[in-house]
Amino acid sequence: MKVLVVGGGGREHAILRKLKESPQRPALYAAPGNGGISYDAVCVPIAATDVAAIVDFAAREGMDYVVVAPDDPLVLGMVDALAEKGIPAFGPSRAAAVIEGSKVFSKNLMKKYGIPTARYETFDSADAAERYVRQNTAWPLVVKADGLALGKGVLICEDEAAALAAVDEIMRCGKFGASGSRVVIEEFLTGPEVSVLCFTDGKTIVPMASSMDHKRALDGDRGLNTGGMGTVAPNPYYTGEIAAVCMETIFRPTVDAMNAEGRTFKGCLYFGLMLTPGGPKVIEYNCRFGDPETQVVLPLLESDLLAVMRATTDGTLAELDVKFSEKCAACVILASGGYPQQYEKGKAIAGLADGQLPEGGATVYHAGTARSADGALVTSGGRVLGVTAVADDLPGALAAAYKAADRIAFDGLYRRSDIGQRALLAIQNP
Ligand code: AMP
Ligand code: GLY
Repeated sequence: MKVLVVGGGGREHAILRKLKESPQRPALYAAPGNGGISYDAVCVPIAATDVAAIVDFAAREGMDYVVVAPDDPLVLGMVDALAEKGIPAFGPSRAAAVIEGSKVFSKNLMKKYGIPTARYETFDSADAAERYVRQNTAWPLVVKADGLALGKGVLICEDEAAALAAVDEIMRCGKFGASGSRVVIEEFLTGPEVSVLCFTDGKTIVPMASSMDHKRALDGDRGLNTGGMGTVAPNPYYTGEIAAVCMETIFRPTVDAMNAEGRTFKGCLYFGLMLTPGGPKVIEYNCRFGDPETQVVLPLLESDLLAVMRATTDGTLAELDVKFSEKCAACVILASGGYPQQYEKGKAIAGLADGQLPEGGATVYHAGTARSADGALVTSGGRVLGVTAVADDLPGALAAAYKAADRIAFDGLYRRSDIGQRALLAIQNP
């Protein structure tokens, strides 16, 4: 069986490494993949957003199954385009991917179906948004661009001047292009954040191990927002009791709402939750696996990922018993100095042999690496590597991940030194 994974980051590497364990022994392809992924899959130089070229390749080379991992090709309708050629694929249709592609859509969906989320208003004119900001009395206020913005379209504004500047940047200056033609302005929520990724075929919902991302660039959750500097799983704030509340008030109602709207969601539905004093609320939906959440969640999956994915496509998820390990996982991201702003590329990476640590003890997921002409690994992105360790408990997983990370070096390497510390506090003071 030939399986193509679309995308080329750490998330895609984690998906491929898990698919590689499948007893179905698939032949693995990645488009475009990256330097480290090339040790685990045949990399095909096609951009993840080039729907026509991906579909052509999959048809021509006889792919039996395609996993569309990133948000943009899903929102562009890659799964629909593959289906038209008779190629089954993991991921939502274009109609369902709008749950991530438009925050105005997702907020209105939550309002219509009574799914708990921050109170909000939507605006398609800057004048109206500015009038609303001037009347606001509770700060901070959160201003969000409607469409995809590489995770940077959310601005937390401490006062009126900041909120007016945010509206100006997004709606008048077009900082995020067409994604900012509409905005959502919402109340600021507080509480621990939890990411819950769920497999769903539109009927059955299978939550995966919960996780905690670390979005800010610097220790102590300071600095700029990034794509994510590290993750742990499971998230200790997410107790069994809270999980049951989330299934009843958020996960099930969301999947049912998408069905009622004629937008059945199949694939991985990502719930970004905040555990507020008033109960769990939705901060955001993603129509895909999270990055770097996947680098801690999939290592804990004990079932055959390929079988689970195919069942979400075929609508037979209820027939499977999807198992997760009781262990803990931690992932530390090694980034290029300067990320998420300016950074240099092409730095030689020391400490790896065929993309992994020769001593073992951890798995190295490649996010931004390339192979130079002589085959050596060099940096090629902001987030370069994700080093993941699994252990019986969280302290053990964190210690092993940091120990492994210490054996890898490149010029300008930057990482946070406090991944998992908040989670450890939650375990110590439940
Ligand atoms: P997003 O890009 O939607 O994941 O938002 C980025 C981050 O902004 C989230 O992980 C939260 O930490 C924060 N955030 C988004 N919306 C809110 C809100 N209503 N209240 C507080 N923080 C928020
Ligand atoms: N780590 C957050 C995301 O994948 O959107």
